[in-house]
Amino acid sequence: MYTQIDNFSMAYSDQGKGLPIVLIHGYPLNRRIFDSQLEDLSQHARVITPDLRGHGQSQAMAGPYSMDLLAQDMAALLESLHIHEPVILGGLSMGGYIAFAFYRLFPEKVRGLILTATRATADSPAAREARQQAAENAQKEGVASIVEAMLPKLLAPQTLAQRLDLVETVQAIMLSTSLEGVLGDLAAMSARPDSTPTLATIRVPTLIVHGAQDSLIPVADAQAMQQAVPNARLEVIQEAGHLPTLEKPAVYNQAVLQFLKQFSA
Ligand code: MLT
Repeated sequence: MYTQIDNFSMAYSDQGKGLPIVLIHGYPLNRRIFDSQLEDLSQHARVITPDLRGHGQSQAMAGPYSMDLLAQDMAALLESLHIHEPVILGGLSMGGYIAFAFYRLFPEKVRGLILTATRATADSPAAREARQQAAENAQKEGVASIVEAMLPKLLAPQTLAQRLDLVETVQAIMLSTSLEGVLGDLAAMSARPDSTPTLATIRVPTLIVHGAQDSLIPVADAQAMQQAVPNARLEVIQEAGHLPTLEKPAVYNQAVLQFLKQFSA
C-alpha cells in the first residue's frame, strides 16, 4: 500500500486488527526485514511496517534527512491511517534511533517501545569518519559497494555459512535502497544526538532485543540501555547477528508476544 506523506509517496504494509504496532527498519534496509513479524504478530495485533523515504518501495527522496524528519514521517503515516491512540513503536538499529527521536517528539503517541539491535549513544568521531567514507564510496561506486562491505557484518557466522537463501534476501533488500536513501541515512546517523539522556525519561514498557552475535552493535550496548530505562526487559537471542527478526523470527516473535500480553488487559 502507498500513502502520500508530505511531499513523497510512502509504501507500507498494514495487517491485522487491534493494538497498533509500528516497526521501523534500519539502514540500508526496508520493511521486508519484518515479513515474519507482519505474518505472525498480525494474528494478535495490527502490524504496520513502513518503508522509510528512499527505501524499498517508498519514493527516493534526496536529503537532508534527520532522525527527527524520519520520526515526523512516522507520525504523518499514523495520521494518514487515522490512528490516534498511542502505539507500540519498534525500531531495529537505525529504526531504534528514529524511535528515540519519535519518543522525544511525541511521547503521548507511544504506549510501548521495542528496541532491537540498537544503541542509545551517538556516533564517535571515528564512526563519523567511516560514514563520510561510506558516503564517498556510495557516490563513486554506487550502493552495491556499501552492500558488499556491510553484508558480512549484518548476519551471525552461522547464518552466513548455512542460510544462503537469507543471505541473498538481505543482499537484495539492501541493493534496492536508493543512493538518495543511503546518503540521507548516513548523514542523519552521523548527526544524530546522544539518546542516553532520553533513556531515564522513558515511562512506557520497553522491550530490548539483541542478537548475541551482533558484530555491528555489541550486546553491551543493549545491556547499558536496559540498566538505564526504568523496568526494561532484555532478550538476548542466541545465534543471531544484527537482524534477529530475519535470523531467528520464531524466538523474536515469541519475545514480542510475551511483551504484548501486558497491553491486552
Ligand atoms: C543499521 O543497521 O540501521 C545501521 O547499521 C546502524 C548504524 O550504522 O549505526
